[in-house]
Amino acid sequence: MIETSDEQTPLTPVTVLGLGPMGRALASAFLNAGHQVTVWNRTSGKAGDLLDHGAVAAGSVQEAVRAGQVIIVCLIDYDAVQATLEPSQADWENRCLVNLTSGEPAQARQMSEWASSRGIDYLDGAILTPTPAIGTPSAAVLFSGAHDVYEAVQETMSAVGGAAVHLGDDPGQASAYEVALLDIFATSVNGIVHAFALASAEGIEPERFAAFATGIGGLLPEMITRFARQIQTGHYPGDRSTIASAASGITHIINTATTHGIDVGMLTAAKGIIDQAVADGYGTQGLARLSTMLHTRAVA
Ligand SMILES: NC(=O)c1ccc[n+]([C@@H]2O[C@H](COP(=O)([O-])OP(=O)(O)OC[C@H]3O[C@@H](n4cnc5c(N)ncnc54)[C@H](OP(=O)(O)O)[C@@H]3O)[C@@H](O)[C@H]2O)c1
Repeated sequence: MIETSDEQTPLTPVTVLGLGPMGRALASAFLNAGHQVTVWNRTSGKAGDLLDHGAVAAGSVQEAVRAGQVIIVCLIDYDAVQATLEPSQADWENRCLVNLTSGEPAQARQMSEWASSRGIDYLDGAILTPTPAIGTPSAAVLFSGAHDVYEAVQETMSAVGGAAVHLGDDPGQASAYEVALLDIFATSVNGIVHAFALASAEGIEPERFAAFATGIGGLLPEMITRFARQIQTGHYPGDRSTIASAASGITHIINTATTHGIDVGMLTAAKGIIDQAVADGYGTQGLARLSTMLHTRAVA
């Protein structure tokens, strides 16, 4: 376990493995906070102006791990993390590995087990904000894994900015939040581009449409909060709108899109869930009820 610094001792040296846009943003934030920063990337020449600002480029993962006490890894996926760390033969004594790579909860738990089997102090994390937010108060990073490891790196990680949240000892929790939040993002992006395609097909100018579309988007925060309360309590009042009404509305979208030759795959899938809810007798209930209809098979 590393020792955290106080005002008399130098800041913890940090290593960043991975210099994609996020790795570079992280390294920059640690440099700005005054840490000694060592960087490594699979493909050389990606450090850019980090070196001008005091970062040191390591020639190998082993060398990079040796130079730091908090080792951040931020690569494209967990397979890349494994491919990077497994063969490295780095000495992890007195070091913490903080994995800020996006992935799946099961992968995070596997990674934690891998680290544990090698005696590596491991913390998993999920970055919820884009690169410009890193190092600013608007950064948002979730952490999960052993609490003592979190405590050991908390001060160092504060350079990333924002309010860090430790979600508990289960290393998969940060990824669990991330994938569920990405679920909102992925389906919303699909909804937005689909709506623009449909509006354009009906001769509506994108910028005129946007003025109304942002109004729809503005309804979502209140809806998320209200759905959370209903899902938590298992009570789905249909006083504002009902599933039966949604069945009618989504049919209009599908029919109109179909006349323009626009793909309706995602809408048809959504309609299938709505129709099932109506068939099961939930037509008079509110839309949050649909969240209980989505399991397609029993989980072993
Ligand atoms: N960018 C954002 O705004 C943002 C926001 C939140 C979370 N994240 C997460 O942060 C992580 C990094 O994202 P990013 O934006 O920096 O770019 P990225 O394109 O997701 O990852 C690029 C990095 O992954 C490395 N890499 C790819 N395949 C590899 C392999 N097989 N072995 C070793 N290294 C490999 C690249 O090295 P090479 O240069 O050698 O290809 C580079 O360092 C991702 O998990 C992403 O989801 C990013």
